[in-house]
Amino acid sequence: MTPKEKIDSLRDQINRHNHSYYVENAPTIGDREFDMLLKELEELEKQHPEFDDPLSPTHRVGSDLTEGFEQVRHLYPMLSLSNTYSVEEVDAWAGRVRAAMPGEHVCIVGELKFDGTGISLIYEHGRLVRAVTRGDGEQGDDVTANVKTIRSIPLQLHGTGWPERLEIRGEIVMPWASFERLNAERAFNEEPLFANPRNAAAGTVKLLNPREVARRGLDAYLYYLPGGQELPYDTHYDNMMAARSWGFKVSSAMTRLDTLEQIDEYINHWDTARRELPVATDGLVFKVDSLRQQLNMGFTAKSPRWAVAYKFAAERACTRLRFVSFDVGRMGIITPVANLEPVLLSGTTVKRASMHNEDIMRSLDIHEGDMLYVEKGGEIIPKIVGVDAEARQPGTEAVRFVSHCPACGTPLVRVEGEAAWMCPNKWGCMPQIAGRIEHFVSRRAMNIDGIGRETVMTMLQTRMVADYGDLYSLTPDRFNGISGFGPGITRRILDGVAASLQVPFDRVVYALSIPGVGETTAKKIARAVHDMDTLMTLPAEQLEAIEDVGPRIAADIVAFFAQPANRLCIDKLRQAGVSMAMPEQDASALSDRLAGKSIVISGVFSRHSRDEYKAIIENNGGKNVSSISKKTDYVLAGENMGPAKLEKARQLGIPIIDENEFLAMIGAE
Ligand code: IVH
Repeated sequence: MTPKEKIDSLRDQINRHNHSYYVENAPTIGDREFDMLLKELEELEKQHPEFDDPLSPTHRVGSDLTEGFEQVRHLYPMLSLSNTYSVEEVDAWAGRVRAAMPGEHVCIVGELKFDGTGISLIYEHGRLVRAVTRGDGEQGDDVTANVKTIRSIPLQLHGTGWPERLEIRGEIVMPWASFERLNAERAFNEEPLFANPRNAAAGTVKLLNPREVARRGLDAYLYYLPGGQELPYDTHYDNMMAARSWGFKVSSAMTRLDTLEQIDEYINHWDTARRELPVATDGLVFKVDSLRQQLNMGFTAKSPRWAVAYKFAAERACTRLRFVSFDVGRMGIITPVANLEPVLLSGTTVKRASMHNEDIMRSLDIHEGDMLYVEKGGEIIPKIVGVDAEARQPGTEAVRFVSHCPACGTPLVRVEGEAAWMCPNKWGCMPQIAGRIEHFVSRRAMNIDGIGRETVMTMLQTRMVADYGDLYSLTPDRFNGISGFGPGITRRILDGVAASLQVPFDRVVYALSIPGVGETTAKKIARAVHDMDTLMTLPAEQLEAIEDVGPRIAADIVAFFAQPANRLCIDKLRQAGVSMAMPEQDASALSDRLAGKSIVISGVFSRHSRDEYKAIIENNGGKNVSSISKKTDYVLAGENMGPAKLEKARQLGIPIIDENEFLAMIGAE
């Protein structure tokens, strides 16, 4: 076999295994063997770059090269569907359809309504050439590189009968399993969670890093072949079955329905059966099967008349309130939480639901022992949406917000201008101290491994530490004889503490738990003030000059450093050698030479990485944007800049500069 033949054969085998695994859910090979085939192909392709093919399965792992997205106009606009919320409304729609075609039999196709993000795929001569998001319906983003990483989407069509140029539409979804894994990971890294698989799918498709997209485990179901192309059959259903034979994932829930009874049965069935599905659905879609009849009915400005969506009701459960507890956060903010008799809701057991603040709790007017309605509505965090007032026992009292801290008994104070109550006892209230230590060691702050809530509580109770500053005076013998601290965990903690001396100053500022100072604000403050001494002594007016710092945060910063306990704590950090200033070059690199300028980065660079260029742009007051438009001021171009981008920049007359010119421009040369 020549290398070319071997490469072709490997690509073919891998594509077939991919299809069995991702489309048919019937793997034909073990993971290890699959990886070995892929490795072998990667090796061969590396040795023979002349046989490179953008559709090779090796491209499915994504590359780290980020490209902004080009805007692409849809050949046929991507419309939405009109919604219905009851069997009666669907029946009425079916009645209208029948009335429009008197004397004809009208067959309806029932489908699941996938809750993800719409996508349009274009194939030329059987090869995937483009994938475009819905966008505003008229034009969307070209996300081909990301979509190629979705293994259930064929890069090369199978079988026969597909038109020379094929457009097929469907939904990119994030299966529950991937969604839960992603959110667990984000929780671990203390990144904001995705509220539902729809947002996660939409956010992932628009990531600038295809490798990260590949890692997140998206899937895609196809459900529509726009009219106007040469399709093998004259019904939607038959064409979709043909699409399945071309390699696409077409849901097996797609069914032909001939009567109103069958439609009603279909709704009844999926209203509950949808809970067993591996992906999120938010309803059903009914479509006229015959393409001729579809054409007959046509479109309104927004949606086809030949289709309708039936939306599932948000899942709601009713359960008894056991009691209301009040959580104390690290900043002392009190959150009311309804503790419930466990109830099953969209596949998970709900025991607690936050009521956020006193105002929301008061508007719900919850009484002891009430039956409460809990809803999930596609979100992961359940919320209390109401009370079954009729089930209320006579003589029960309304649950009142606490007036004193449930942890330390201090009278609460109202946070100015907000609905929140706060415990002002910063240094005598256990959950606040513990919360601050937990935050200090968290990944995005000082990243000290091995310390969770329980460890912190043990450390506080055994007086190993009284604040985060004390972490730096821990010695191995201090852990001796304290349960929960074996030699392994002790080592991990001490190593983590030692390594945290390398953490840059901006993250130290974030780690301190200054009210209102999150990660981004901490960065801006650190860059502006350069060092801790300045930060500790800067008056409020000067703090307010920093981007993102308003009068409120400025006052909080001043108050924070006015507290002797905080100053003492910072002294301990300083003594231990924690970073107390920005590194020299970073601080001096700051300028406003790019103030107000929008800059697109494209291609590969030799002097700095793309991420470094992004940071340099921001450090100098500019804005890095992903796609070229009239508003773009410069394109910073490296090697291999995409031809389409180059063309667009030229058309719009936007200056294209290379890295040397760019560095000269900001005075770094
Ligand atoms: S058909 C011209 N079928 O729902 C009709 N759409 O609210 C094209 N969707 O934008 C759409 N599942 O993103 C169709 N089985 C299905 C669907 C579906 C989910 C989405 C799609 C569309 C939105 C309309």
